[in-house]
Amino acid sequence: NNSFKWIKIYYNVDGRLSFANRFKLKVIFMKAKEKEIVNDIELEMENIKEEKAEVKIMDLPGVGAATAEKLEAAGYDSVLSVAVSTIGGLVDASGVGENVARKMIQAARDNMDMGFESGTDVFNRRQKIEKISFGCSNLDNLLGGGFETGAITECFGEFGSGKTQIAHALAVGCQVQDPTAVAVFIDTENTFRPDRIIDFAKGAGIDPDKALKNVKVARAYNSDHQMLLAEKVGDLVKKGLNVKVVIVDSLTAHFRAEFIGRGTLAVRQQKLNKHMHELLRVADMNNVLVYVTNQVMSKPDVFFGDPTAAIGGHIVAHASTFRIYLRKGKKGSRVAKLIDSPNLPDGEAMFYLETDSIKDF
Ligand code: GTP
Ligand code: MG
Repeated sequence: NNSFKWIKIYYNVDGRLSFANRFKLKVIFMKAKEKEIVNDIELEMENIKEEKAEVKIMDLPGVGAATAEKLEAAGYDSVLSVAVSTIGGLVDASGVGENVARKMIQAARDNMDMGFESGTDVFNRRQKIEKISFGCSNLDNLLGGGFETGAITECFGEFGSGKTQIAHALAVGCQVQDPTAVAVFIDTENTFRPDRIIDFAKGAGIDPDKALKNVKVARAYNSDHQMLLAEKVGDLVKKGLNVKVVIVDSLTAHFRAEFIGRGTLAVRQQKLNKHMHELLRVADMNNVLVYVTNQVMSKPDVFFGDPTAAIGGHIVAHASTFRIYLRKGKKGSRVAKLIDSPNLPDGEAMFYLETDSIKDF
């Protein structure tokens, strides 16, 4: 009789749905929807959409472990990569017959939402966006009310410009707004300082011990480790932690140190691209603010204007929704400039880095 208990038998033990079962489930939901058992079903459909993001190549018809391995070795690392490939490409890569390849591509395509949603969907999703602030109104105004959840904010600038201080301030600021909020700090350069959390917590008038407890710190020892930690953020959310901010300080240091020389640039950018997409997924799926810091390098070929550029190039720039360029200003101040934001005017904000807060200039 279309009761939900009956539907639940389709879930696997590990909570994921196989491709075939997901399809069956969708049909059941469609039918139930026709019979106007509406609200809860809509909600469940949402869940399925999210599950969909996790469909693996292994779930496609005709793909066993060996085939999946061959495909992966040939660079097919997602269902999307299969969906957009050619039959010949798949046959060459995995040795399957043409018919199987055709079925795999078809199934992969059926499984993808090839990308259209209504303006209303986008509007509703954006209603959930929160702005996180640490009480510096100049910066808040620059960002249209604060640092946005559901997006990546990249902060780049020279050493000592305040990137790491802002990271600490955000870890505390989210807790001032919501006492249950948790900040995740992926620390690649050993720059996390508990003292700074205590200072900012005292400055904001919240319990420093509690503030420290609600910052989950992980030291990343190399770029692979860093990428793995980003993937693990979802687990913290599943455990029930109210993660609001995810910090990666610094985003690019390991990548820069590990891939030296021109010949390795392509590989570095590929890995960085994968990492940025994972972070985007983390931001999007969990409605968290992802804050990443980035160093600058000097551009010897620039004679006019600013001779520095952010590391990571277009890959990092495109994946970030908000990009803040920080520099040292006059009288010990710091100047933040917003670069190519989709919906905010480019502008500048001036502030001071103080011991217990980040204050307007
Ligand atoms: P790199 O990581 O080296 O690229 O620099 P960054 O941009 O992360 O710099 P960071 O955020 O670490 O800023 C360092 C600056 O913050 C220092 O030069 C100080 O001006 C300021 N700062 C750090 N700690 C304190 C503090 O306890 N009190 C005060 N008043 N200022 C501090
Ligand atoms: Mg730093």
